[in-house]
Amino acid sequence: MERIEEKRQSASNSSAATMMINIADYEAKARSKMLPAAYDYFAGGALDERTIANNQAAFGDIHLVPRVLRGASTPKISTRLAGHSLAAPIIISPTAFHGLAHPDGEVATATAANALGTIMTVSTTASSAIADVTSATSYPVWFQLYMLKDRAITRDLVREAEVAGCKAIVLTVDVPAWGRRERDMRNEFALPKGAVIKSLLLKGREDFYDGTMNVPLSQFISERFKFDLTWEDVVWLRGVTKLPVFVKGVVHPLDAVEAVKSGAAGVIISNHGGRQLDTCIPTLFALPSIVQAIGDRVPIVLDGGIRRGVDVLKAIALGATAVAVGRPVIWGIAADGARGATRVLEIIRDEFRNAMSLCGCNSITEITSDLLRWNTTKRVLLPRA
Ligand code: GLV
Repeated sequence: MERIEEKRQSASNSSAATMMINIADYEAKARSKMLPAAYDYFAGGALDERTIANNQAAFGDIHLVPRVLRGASTPKISTRLAGHSLAAPIIISPTAFHGLAHPDGEVATATAANALGTIMTVSTTASSAIADVTSATSYPVWFQLYMLKDRAITRDLVREAEVAGCKAIVLTVDVPAWGRRERDMRNEFALPKGAVIKSLLLKGREDFYDGTMNVPLSQFISERFKFDLTWEDVVWLRGVTKLPVFVKGVVHPLDAVEAVKSGAAGVIISNHGGRQLDTCIPTLFALPSIVQAIGDRVPIVLDGGIRRGVDVLKAIALGATAVAVGRPVIWGIAADGARGATRVLEIIRDEFRNAMSLCGCNSITEITSDLLRWNTTKRVLLPRA
Protein backbone atom coordinates (compact mmCIF):
# COMPACT_ATOMS: atom_id res chain seq x y z
CA MET A 1 0.00 0.00 0.00
CA GLU A 2 2.77 2.33 1.02
CA ARG A 3 4.68 1.45 -2.15
CA ILE A 4 1.68 2.38 -4.27
CA GLU A 5 1.35 5.69 -2.44
CA GLU A 6 5.09 6.33 -2.94
CA LYS A 7 4.76 5.57 -6.65
CA ARG A 8 1.77 7.86 -6.91
CA GLN A 9 3.69 10.58 -5.14
CA SER A 10 6.72 10.25 -7.35
CA ALA A 11 4.54 10.20 -10.48
CA SER A 12 2.85 13.40 -9.42
CA ASN A 13 6.26 15.02 -8.88
CA SER A 14 7.56 13.74 -12.20
CA SER A 15 7.41 15.25 -15.63
CA ALA A 16 4.06 13.50 -16.20
CA ALA A 17 2.47 15.94 -13.78
CA THR A 18 3.95 18.90 -15.63
CA MET A 19 3.24 17.62 -19.14
CA MET A 20 1.85 20.32 -21.38
CA ILE A 21 -0.97 18.57 -23.19
CA ASN A 22 -3.74 21.11 -23.44
CA ILE A 23 -4.38 24.85 -23.52
CA ALA A 24 -5.19 24.98 -19.81
CA ASP A 25 -1.69 23.62 -19.10
CA TYR A 26 -0.23 26.47 -21.15
CA GLU A 27 -2.37 29.05 -19.39
CA ALA A 28 -1.20 27.76 -15.99
CA LYS A 29 2.43 27.86 -17.08
CA ALA A 30 2.01 31.31 -18.61
CA ARG A 31 0.42 32.61 -15.44
CA SER A 32 3.31 31.33 -13.34
CA LYS A 33 5.78 33.19 -15.56
CA MET A 34 4.00 36.49 -16.20
CA LEU A 35 3.74 39.63 -14.12
CA PRO A 36 0.31 39.42 -12.45
CA ALA A 37 -0.93 42.65 -14.06
CA ALA A 38 0.14 41.43 -17.52
CA TYR A 39 -1.58 38.08 -16.98
CA ASP A 40 -4.73 39.93 -15.86
CA TYR A 41 -4.60 42.20 -18.89
CA PHE A 42 -4.73 39.23 -21.25
CA ALA A 43 -6.96 36.94 -19.19
CA GLY A 44 -9.42 39.56 -18.07
CA GLY A 45 -12.52 41.09 -19.58
CA ALA A 46 -15.32 43.51 -18.91
CA LEU A 47 -17.31 43.75 -15.68
CA ASP A 48 -18.15 40.27 -14.30
CA GLU A 49 -16.38 38.55 -17.21
CA ARG A 50 -19.52 36.58 -18.05
CA THR A 51 -18.92 36.97 -21.78
CA ILE A 52 -15.53 35.33 -21.47
CA ALA A 53 -17.01 32.39 -19.58
CA ASN A 54 -20.05 32.14 -21.86
CA ASN A 55 -17.97 32.18 -25.06
CA GLN A 56 -16.30 28.99 -23.85
CA ALA A 57 -19.35 27.44 -22.19
CA ALA A 58 -21.38 27.78 -25.40
CA PHE A 59 -19.37 25.01 -27.00
CA GLY A 60 -20.41 22.68 -24.19
CA ASP A 61 -24.07 23.42 -24.92
CA ILE A 62 -23.87 21.68 -28.26
CA HIS A 63 -23.56 17.91 -28.38
CA LEU A 64 -21.92 15.99 -31.19
CA VAL A 65 -23.75 13.15 -32.93
CA PRO A 66 -20.96 11.35 -34.77
CA ARG A 67 -21.26 9.23 -37.92
CA VAL A 68 -19.52 5.86 -38.10
CA LEU A 69 -18.08 3.50 -40.72
CA ARG A 70 -16.84 6.30 -42.93
CA GLY A 71 -13.21 5.32 -42.99
CA ALA A 72 -12.28 8.69 -41.49
CA SER A 73 -8.94 7.75 -39.95
CA THR A 74 -6.85 10.33 -41.77
CA PRO A 75 -9.00 13.40 -42.39
CA LYS A 76 -7.79 16.18 -44.65
CA ILE A 77 -7.83 19.34 -42.54
CA SER A 78 -6.32 21.86 -44.93
CA THR A 79 -8.64 24.54 -46.23
CA ARG A 80 -8.87 27.88 -48.03
CA LEU A 81 -9.73 31.24 -46.57
CA ALA A 82 -10.04 34.42 -48.64
CA GLY A 83 -7.87 32.92 -51.37
CA HIS A 84 -5.17 31.62 -49.00
CA SER A 85 -4.31 27.96 -48.48
CA LEU A 86 -4.11 27.09 -44.81
CA ALA A 87 -2.93 23.92 -43.12
CA ALA A 88 -6.03 24.05 -40.89
CA PRO A 89 -9.06 26.33 -40.45
CA ILE A 90 -7.44 27.96 -37.43
CA ILE A 91 -6.00 31.48 -37.65
CA ILE A 92 -4.55 33.86 -35.05
CA SER A 93 -6.70 36.71 -33.74
CA PRO A 94 -5.21 40.11 -33.11
CA THR A 95 -4.13 40.73 -29.52
CA ALA A 96 -2.04 43.63 -28.27
CA PHE A 97 1.43 43.94 -26.74
CA HIS A 98 2.88 40.44 -27.17
CA GLY A 99 6.06 41.82 -25.64
CA LEU A 100 4.28 41.62 -22.28
CA ALA A 101 4.17 37.85 -22.73
CA HIS A 102 7.60 37.22 -24.26
CA PRO A 103 10.57 39.41 -25.27
CA ASP A 104 10.29 38.22 -28.90
CA GLY A 105 6.80 39.71 -29.04
CA GLU A 106 4.75 39.24 -32.21
CA VAL A 107 7.79 37.84 -34.03
CA ALA A 108 7.45 34.73 -31.85
CA THR A 109 3.75 34.53 -32.72
CA ALA A 110 4.43 34.88 -36.44
CA THR A 111 7.06 32.15 -36.21
CA ALA A 112 4.40 29.89 -34.71
CA ALA A 113 1.88 30.83 -37.42
CA ASN A 114 4.45 29.89 -40.01
CA ALA A 115 5.15 26.56 -38.30
CA LEU A 116 1.47 25.69 -38.31
CA GLY A 117 0.87 27.07 -41.80
CA THR A 118 -1.69 29.70 -41.03
CA ILE A 119 -2.58 33.40 -40.94
CA MET A 120 -1.53 35.67 -38.10
CA THR A 121 -3.26 38.99 -37.46
CA VAL A 122 -0.95 41.64 -36.05
CA SER A 123 -2.45 44.33 -33.85
CA THR A 124 -2.30 48.10 -34.29
CA THR A 125 -0.74 48.03 -30.82
CA ALA A 126 2.05 45.51 -31.33
CA SER A 127 5.35 45.28 -29.50
CA SER A 128 7.13 44.30 -32.72
CA ALA A 129 7.43 46.32 -35.91
CA ILE A 130 4.98 45.18 -38.59
CA ALA A 131 7.78 44.45 -41.07
CA ASP A 132 9.55 42.23 -38.52
CA VAL A 133 6.34 40.26 -38.10
CA THR A 134 5.80 39.72 -41.82
CA SER A 135 9.47 38.73 -42.21
CA ALA A 136 9.03 35.94 -39.66
CA THR A 137 6.46 33.97 -41.66
CA SER A 138 5.84 32.94 -45.23
CA TYR A 139 2.11 32.67 -44.52
CA PRO A 140 -0.15 35.71 -44.79
CA VAL A 141 -0.13 38.36 -42.09
CA TRP A 142 -3.27 40.45 -41.69
CA PHE A 143 -3.16 43.87 -40.05
CA GLN A 144 -5.73 44.73 -37.39
CA LEU A 145 -6.62 48.39 -37.56
CA TYR A 146 -7.86 50.66 -34.85
CA MET A 147 -8.95 53.66 -36.85
CA LEU A 148 -7.11 56.77 -35.66
CA LYS A 149 -8.64 60.19 -35.14
CA ASP A 150 -6.35 61.59 -37.81
CA ARG A 151 -7.23 60.09 -41.18
CA ALA A 152 -3.89 61.03 -42.75
CA ILE A 153 -2.03 59.13 -40.03
CA THR A 154 -4.47 56.21 -40.38
CA ARG A 155 -3.60 56.16 -44.06
CA ASP A 156 0.12 56.12 -43.20
CA LEU A 157 -0.43 53.22 -40.82
CA VAL A 158 -2.34 51.25 -43.44
CA ARG A 159 0.42 52.07 -45.94
CA GLU A 160 3.02 50.78 -43.46
CA ALA A 161 1.10 47.50 -43.25
CA GLU A 162 0.85 47.31 -47.04
CA VAL A 163 4.56 47.96 -47.52
CA ALA A 164 5.37 45.34 -44.88
CA GLY A 165 3.43 42.84 -47.01
CA CYS A 166 0.23 42.41 -45.00
CA LYS A 167 -2.49 40.73 -47.02
CA ALA A 168 -5.63 42.17 -45.44
CA ILE A 169 -6.84 44.86 -43.07
CA VAL A 170 -8.98 43.71 -40.16
CA LEU A 171 -10.97 46.69 -38.93
CA THR A 172 -12.04 46.44 -35.29
CA VAL A 173 -15.56 47.83 -34.96
CA ASP A 174 -16.64 46.89 -31.45
CA VAL A 175 -14.91 49.69 -29.55
CA PRO A 176 -17.23 52.73 -29.57
CA ALA A 177 -16.01 52.99 -25.98
CA TRP A 178 -13.35 51.04 -24.12
CA GLY A 179 -14.81 48.16 -22.08
CA ARG A 180 -14.72 48.52 -18.31
CA ARG A 181 -12.06 46.03 -17.37
CA GLU A 182 -11.99 45.92 -13.63
CA ARG A 183 -8.80 43.88 -13.33
CA ASP A 184 -6.96 46.58 -15.27
CA MET A 185 -8.57 49.30 -13.17
CA ARG A 186 -7.51 47.64 -9.93
CA ASN A 187 -3.99 46.99 -11.24
CA GLU A 188 -3.76 50.49 -12.73
CA PHE A 189 -2.53 48.59 -15.77
CA ALA A 190 0.24 50.33 -17.67
CA LEU A 191 2.94 49.27 -20.09
CA PRO A 192 6.28 48.68 -18.35
CA LYS A 193 8.67 51.63 -18.43
CA GLY A 194 10.48 51.73 -21.74
CA ALA A 195 8.02 49.45 -23.56
CA VAL A 196 7.52 50.65 -27.12
CA ILE A 197 4.51 50.07 -29.38
CA LYS A 198 6.72 49.52 -32.42
CA SER A 199 3.79 49.07 -34.79
CA LEU A 200 2.87 52.73 -34.21
CA LEU A 201 6.30 54.20 -34.94
CA LEU A 202 5.67 55.92 -38.26
CA LYS A 203 8.39 57.84 -40.07
CA GLY A 204 7.69 61.55 -40.00
CA ARG A 205 4.87 61.11 -37.48
CA GLU A 206 6.94 61.49 -34.31
CA ASP A 207 4.48 64.10 -33.11
CA PHE A 208 1.84 61.35 -33.11
CA TYR A 209 4.08 58.81 -31.31
CA ASP A 210 7.83 58.81 -30.82
CA GLY A 211 8.13 55.65 -28.74
CA THR A 212 7.69 57.34 -25.40
CA MET A 213 4.52 57.48 -23.38
CA ASN A 214 4.22 60.21 -20.81
CA VAL A 215 0.53 59.71 -20.07
CA PRO A 216 -1.44 56.65 -18.86
CA LEU A 217 -2.09 54.07 -21.60
CA SER A 218 -5.85 54.73 -21.54
CA GLN A 219 -5.24 58.44 -22.12
CA PHE A 220 -2.73 57.70 -24.89
CA ILE A 221 -5.34 55.58 -26.65
CA SER A 222 -8.29 57.87 -26.13
CA GLU A 223 -6.29 60.84 -27.45
CA ARG A 224 -5.31 59.01 -30.64
CA PHE A 225 -7.88 56.32 -31.53
CA LYS A 226 -11.17 57.12 -33.20
CA PHE A 227 -14.02 55.53 -31.32
CA ASP A 228 -17.08 57.01 -33.05
CA LEU A 229 -16.85 54.88 -36.16
CA THR A 230 -19.74 54.43 -38.58
CA TRP A 231 -20.19 52.36 -41.74
CA GLU A 232 -18.94 55.39 -43.61
CA ASP A 233 -15.49 54.72 -42.08
CA VAL A 234 -15.51 51.24 -43.58
CA VAL A 235 -16.25 52.70 -46.99
CA TRP A 236 -13.51 55.31 -46.47
CA LEU A 237 -11.01 52.61 -45.51
CA ARG A 238 -11.87 50.58 -48.58
CA GLY A 239 -11.14 53.68 -50.60
CA VAL A 240 -7.60 54.13 -49.25
CA THR A 241 -6.35 50.55 -49.61
CA LYS A 242 -6.39 47.86 -52.24
CA LEU A 243 -6.18 45.24 -49.51
CA PRO A 244 -9.35 43.35 -48.61
CA VAL A 245 -11.02 44.74 -45.50
CA PHE A 246 -12.43 42.35 -42.90
CA VAL A 247 -14.84 43.71 -40.32
CA LYS A 248 -14.13 42.32 -36.85
CA GLY A 249 -16.47 42.60 -33.90
CA VAL A 250 -19.83 41.73 -35.42
CA VAL A 251 -22.43 39.61 -33.57
CA HIS A 252 -25.73 41.00 -34.94
CA PRO A 253 -26.96 39.57 -38.26
CA LEU A 254 -28.06 43.01 -39.49
CA ASP A 255 -24.50 44.28 -39.00
CA ALA A 256 -23.17 41.30 -40.95
CA VAL A 257 -25.51 42.29 -43.79
CA GLU A 258 -24.31 45.89 -43.51
CA ALA A 259 -20.68 44.73 -43.61
CA VAL A 260 -21.28 42.86 -46.85
CA LYS A 261 -23.10 45.90 -48.30
CA SER A 262 -20.14 48.09 -47.33
CA GLY A 263 -17.83 45.87 -49.33
CA ALA A 264 -16.20 43.91 -46.51
CA ALA A 265 -14.20 40.94 -47.75
CA GLY A 266 -15.21 38.96 -44.69
CA VAL A 267 -16.87 39.12 -41.31
CA ILE A 268 -15.15 38.18 -38.08
CA ILE A 269 -17.75 37.32 -35.48
CA SER A 270 -16.26 38.53 -32.23
CA ASN A 271 -17.20 40.12 -28.92
CA HIS A 272 -13.57 41.14 -28.40
CA GLY A 273 -12.96 38.08 -26.25
CA GLY A 274 -15.39 39.37 -23.63
CA ARG A 275 -13.35 42.51 -23.11
CA GLN A 276 -16.03 44.97 -24.21
CA LEU A 277 -19.72 44.32 -23.48
CA ASP A 278 -20.32 41.94 -20.62
CA THR A 279 -23.16 39.42 -21.12
CA CYS A 280 -22.84 39.88 -24.88
CA ILE A 281 -24.13 36.89 -26.83
CA PRO A 282 -21.49 34.14 -27.05
CA THR A 283 -20.02 34.23 -30.51
CA LEU A 284 -20.94 30.61 -31.22
CA PHE A 285 -24.61 31.46 -30.62
CA ALA A 286 -24.33 34.50 -32.89
CA LEU A 287 -22.99 32.36 -35.72
CA PRO A 288 -26.14 30.61 -37.02
CA SER A 289 -28.16 33.78 -37.54
CA ILE A 290 -25.23 35.48 -39.27
CA VAL A 291 -24.81 32.48 -41.57
CA GLN A 292 -28.52 32.67 -42.28
CA ALA A 293 -28.28 36.41 -43.03
CA ILE A 294 -25.25 36.47 -45.35
CA GLY A 295 -24.84 32.86 -46.47
CA ASP A 296 -21.53 32.28 -48.17
CA ARG A 297 -21.25 35.72 -49.75
CA VAL A 298 -18.07 36.34 -47.76
CA PRO A 299 -16.01 34.16 -45.43
CA ILE A 300 -17.13 34.11 -41.80
CA VAL A 301 -14.48 33.70 -39.12
CA LEU A 302 -15.53 32.86 -35.58
CA ASP A 303 -13.45 34.38 -32.78
CA GLY A 304 -13.93 33.75 -29.07
CA GLY A 305 -13.77 30.85 -26.66
CA ILE A 306 -11.91 28.31 -28.79
CA ARG A 307 -9.85 26.13 -26.45
CA ARG A 308 -10.34 22.68 -27.99
CA GLY A 309 -10.36 21.01 -31.39
CA VAL A 310 -13.99 19.99 -30.89
CA ASP A 311 -14.79 23.71 -30.63
CA VAL A 312 -13.31 24.24 -34.09
CA LEU A 313 -15.41 21.43 -35.49
CA LYS A 314 -18.64 22.84 -34.01
CA ALA A 315 -17.96 26.32 -35.40
CA ILE A 316 -17.37 24.90 -38.86
CA ALA A 317 -20.46 22.70 -38.64
CA LEU A 318 -22.48 25.86 -37.93
CA GLY A 319 -21.09 27.61 -41.00
CA ALA A 320 -17.80 29.29 -40.06
CA THR A 321 -15.07 29.16 -42.69
CA ALA A 322 -12.40 29.21 -39.98
CA VAL A 323 -11.90 30.09 -36.35
CA ALA A 324 -9.52 32.60 -34.77
CA VAL A 325 -7.69 32.06 -31.49
CA GLY A 326 -6.32 34.84 -29.29
CA ARG A 327 -5.54 34.08 -25.66
CA PRO A 328 -4.26 30.50 -26.23
CA VAL A 329 -1.47 31.88 -28.40
CA ILE A 330 -0.55 34.42 -25.72
CA TRP A 331 -0.33 31.57 -23.18
CA GLY A 332 1.91 29.73 -25.63
CA ILE A 333 4.41 32.54 -26.14
CA ALA A 334 4.41 33.41 -22.44
CA ALA A 335 5.14 29.78 -21.55
CA ASP A 336 7.80 29.11 -24.14
CA GLY A 337 8.12 31.74 -26.88
CA ALA A 338 7.58 30.67 -30.49
CA ARG A 339 7.90 27.02 -29.49
CA GLY A 340 5.11 27.36 -26.94
CA ALA A 341 2.77 29.12 -29.38
CA THR A 342 3.53 26.50 -32.01
CA ARG A 343 2.64 23.72 -29.58
CA VAL A 344 -0.58 25.49 -28.62
CA LEU A 345 -1.63 25.70 -32.27
CA GLU A 346 -0.57 22.10 -32.88
CA ILE A 347 -2.61 20.90 -29.91
CA ILE A 348 -5.78 22.59 -31.20
CA ARG A 349 -5.04 21.31 -34.71
CA ASP A 350 -4.42 17.73 -33.53
CA GLU A 351 -7.53 17.74 -31.39
CA PHE A 352 -9.50 19.05 -34.38
CA ARG A 353 -8.19 16.29 -36.62
CA ASN A 354 -9.03 13.74 -33.94
CA ALA A 355 -12.56 15.18 -33.58
CA MET A 356 -13.05 14.98 -37.36
CA SER A 357 -12.06 11.31 -37.34
CA LEU A 358 -14.33 10.54 -34.45
CA CYS A 359 -17.24 12.33 -36.15
CA GLY A 360 -16.65 10.43 -39.40
CA CYS A 361 -15.49 13.46 -41.41
CA ASN A 362 -12.87 12.90 -44.12
CA SER A 363 -12.66 16.55 -45.14
CA ILE A 364 -13.79 19.97 -44.00
CA THR A 365 -16.82 19.85 -46.33
CA GLU A 366 -18.10 16.78 -44.49
CA ILE A 367 -18.39 18.81 -41.26
CA THR A 368 -22.09 19.60 -41.39
CA SER A 369 -24.76 20.72 -38.95
CA ASP A 370 -26.43 17.27 -38.83
CA LEU A 371 -23.55 16.31 -36.51
CA LEU A 372 -24.86 18.73 -33.87
CA ARG A 373 -27.68 18.74 -31.37
CA TRP A 374 -28.34 21.66 -29.05
CA ASN A 375 -28.41 20.60 -25.44
CA THR A 376 -32.16 20.24 -25.09
CA THR A 377 -32.30 21.47 -21.52
CA LYS A 378 -31.07 24.85 -22.76
CA ARG A 379 -32.70 24.86 -26.17
CA VAL A 380 -35.19 27.54 -25.31
CA LEU A 381 -32.32 30.02 -24.93
CA LEU A 382 -30.61 29.19 -28.19
CA PRO A 383 -31.08 30.16 -31.79
CA ARG A 384 -31.89 27.43 -34.27
CA ALA A 385 -29.02 25.89 -36.17
C1 GLV B 1 -7.07 45.60 -27.21
O1 GLV B 1 -7.61 45.46 -28.26
C2 GLV B 1 -7.63 45.14 -26.00
O2 GLV B 1 -8.72 44.57 -26.02
O3 GLV B 1 -6.99 45.33 -24.95
